[in-house]
Amino acid sequence: MDAGLAEVVAAETVLSDVDGAAGRLVIRGFDVGVLAQRAAFEDVAALLWDGFLPRVRDLPAAFGAARVRMFARLPDFGDLDDVEALRAALARVRDGDDLGVALDLAAMSAVATAAIARTRRGRTLIAPDPSLSQAGDCLRMMLGRDPAPAETSALDAYWATVCDHGLNASTFAARVVASTQAGLASAVIGGLCALKGPLHGGAPGPVLDMLDAIGAPENAEAWIDAALARGERLMGFGHRIYRVRDPRAEALAAALRRLPRAAGRIAFAEAIEKTALTQLRARYSGRALDTNVEYYTALLLDALGAPRETFTCLFACGRVLGWIAHAREQVMTRRIVRPQSRYVGPAPDAEAA
Ligand code: ACO
Repeated sequence: MDAGLAEVVAAETVLSDVDGAAGRLVIRGFDVGVLAQRAAFEDVAALLWDGFLPRVRDLPAAFGAARVRMFARLPDFGDLDDVEALRAALARVRDGDDLGVALDLAAMSAVATAAIARTRRGRTLIAPDPSLSQAGDCLRMMLGRDPAPAETSALDAYWATVCDHGLNASTFAARVVASTQAGLASAVIGGLCALKGPLHGGAPGPVLDMLDAIGAPENAEAWIDAALARGERLMGFGHRIYRVRDPRAEALAAALRRLPRAAGRIAFAEAIEKTALTQLRARYSGRALDTNVEYYTALLLDALGAPRETFTCLFACGRVLGWIAHAREQVMTRRIVRPQSRYVGPAPDAEAA
């Protein structure tokens, strides 16, 4: 028994393959670096959903129409934090297993994330433009201006990089929910709830907090040493599967380098990364700890002007494609996920019985 189910194979999938020893991620036959360079969000949706949902001739237009529908259904976010607000927005999507539900969930993720970012900054909401791509429109609704082509392609690269990743915690959660035939909306909300935690999709905001707290490369050694001595985990490092650098970190660093405003920040982040890795390796010599996807996610999303509190929602906007594909794949097995537990509690009280 392993509480983390590390060695358990709980699904067969055609969607993605994570090779932790080689540092390789293949998504439906494509290396993640290639996908990040070439595929827009809509291409990734077509790739992941193929065989699981009916094909759509004009997917960008279908997503555009769905964004307009979802904008009209946005809830009042009240005092909810960002992921809670996205959860409330996704809860407005009717449940079901069809293409319409899938489109609405992906569209709602982008529309609500942009609206949550605007609300956080006290700005009025901007309605979708269905003629734009999902990445371009999400940035426009979030920033209140037309994004530069390099910004749109950076967000596409980010979403391609995080669209799917084997049986990670949120995807497993989505598959468990889907296995009960609860519907795609329930599965996606289940996935989002698992993504929220700081050990999974909640890490990139704290990565920026860490970089801000360190302030300058010369402070890194003392700051990191003190954090590790307190038993804290360094956000953006370590992974259950990867024993070498997460290949997504490189795909995102490459996308980041293409953004004109990011140059100074990259040099600073690389210096901190080097110090962190030296210290982690010295402290955990028996364990290969390396940089994970969240480190460069934080820098990329920051360079795109997204508020750090909204980073997890932007992660969900990409991963929603994988959650949906996995949910459909699980439903097609017609098998409910129901593992066993070993009872280690008290024996029944013989006298009381
Ligand atoms: N900083 C400091 N110590 C660490 C870190 C870290 N980032 N990662 C692992 N360790 C330590 C653990 O404390 C553990 O030590 P212990 O046995 O004394 O408790 C040892 O290294 C081995 O840990 P692993 O078995 O490699 O970690 P596990 O597989 O349980 O957890 C996880 C993986 C949750 C990602 C972990 O590395 C972590 O907490 N990282 C920081 C948070 C983070 O960046 N999360 C995003 C992950 S990527 C994603 O989900 C999209």
